Amino acid sequence: MAAPVPVMDDISIATLTADPYPSFRRMREAASVVWVSDARINLVTRFEDIMTVERDHGRFASTNPGSLMNKVMGHSLMRKDDEAHQVERKAIEPSFRPGVVKNHWTPVFDRIADQLIDSFADDGEADLFDRFAAPMASLCLCEMIGFKDVAWQDLAAWSQALMDGVSNYGTDPQTAHRAAAASDAIDAAIDAVLDDYRDKPEATILSSMLHAESPHSLEQIRANIKVIIGGGLNEPRDSILTTVYGLLLNPEQRARVEADPTLYRTAFEEAVRWVSPIGMYPRRVTCDTVLGDTQLKEGDQLGICVGAANRDETRFSDPDAYDIFRERSSHLGFGAGPHFCAGTWVARQMVGEIAVPKLFSRLSKLRLDDNRPAIMKGWVFRGPVSLPVRWEI
Ligand code: HEM
Repeated sequence: MAAPVPVMDDISIATLTADPYPSFRRMREAASVVWVSDARINLVTRFEDIMTVERDHGRFASTNPGSLMNKVMGHSLMRKDDEAHQVERKAIEPSFRPGVVKNHWTPVFDRIADQLIDSFADDGEADLFDRFAAPMASLCLCEMIGFKDVAWQDLAAWSQALMDGVSNYGTDPQTAHRAAAASDAIDAAIDAVLDDYRDKPEATILSSMLHAESPHSLEQIRANIKVIIGGGLNEPRDSILTTVYGLLLNPEQRARVEADPTLYRTAFEEAVRWVSPIGMYPRRVTCDTVLGDTQLKEGDQLGICVGAANRDETRFSDPDAYDIFRERSSHLGFGAGPHFCAGTWVARQMVGEIAVPKLFSRLSKLRLDDNRPAIMKGWVFRGPVSLPVRWEI
């Protein structure tokens, strides 16, 4: 018999932000869905329950008129279902196809990674967050969107402001204000270049949207570019850092990867499982229904905790370990179902084939800085906020 959603009053946003994994384990043990009062949301944390949700968009919709994301970014493809979702997804796909990533974006990403490493290779030490991962992700995304005069620091600040706004479940007014200002600045940046892409199609995302089979309104373009700025910058940044961190903490795995560079791909994939950059995203329950052992009501808001599911011990053995040789590796870090991450191939190439391998091959004897420990933060979005390293010069 399905039971009502149990309440967990002793789990705070602060605890989740510092280290969500012990709380995630308690939630997985407690029930299919738990209510976390401080975050004011029902959380789904077990791998199989999330697969059930993602296979059934009739009962568990992405469309969500009251969602924070709609307020912060406008009504994007991420909060639509079925036909409405598919036409907008199709419109961006030309920029993300594996062939386009390989032939068009790879040389761009290569150049950006090399220029960044050139700028600090002689220093012997750096915090890889601000010297490499943040500018790498931001400069690559500027190129992909088709922005011309936007500084990487501005794009990164807009992305952070949007993401903070979207995860502002505590409804802090300053966070909401910063997100609104970022949204206005992005609209202006789009307006400044849009006409440049009208005449002939290019690989950029703005061009793909303008030349889509089904014409897009300015409102659709703006909302979807904001989703891409939110989801296409912090996640590659965080997964660059997490992959480097995972390898530096595990010298044996690092040695195997350096001996066989084709393993960098696996190192990246395992990093996205181990610390999922998007730890949680929402769905809405469309009818009274049962999920696993829990009774849900129409209109319930669910937080789909892929960060927790990726540590589910019924799915992964020794789930807290970073282990690129684990038996079962397919994970939920890129989501699942119709909204499966559109940028997966871009991220695999940018992070797993270019950014991380170049750091290890160009910075001799790369190691963690013993005097300055790495700092991890977040649960809705999670990754290192600082990764100090040293190398031989
Ligand atoms: C390691 C890097 C990345 C991770 C872990 C990641 C993760 C995710 C996840 C979990 C979703 C599903 C969200 C949901 O269903 O609500 C998603 C969707 C999406 N991602 Fe990514 N992402 C990454 C990189 C990127 C990049 C580089 C781009 C673009 C340049 C991108 C663009 C998108 C878009 C447009 C969607 C929405 C797809 C849809 O609704 O159909 N992502 N991503």
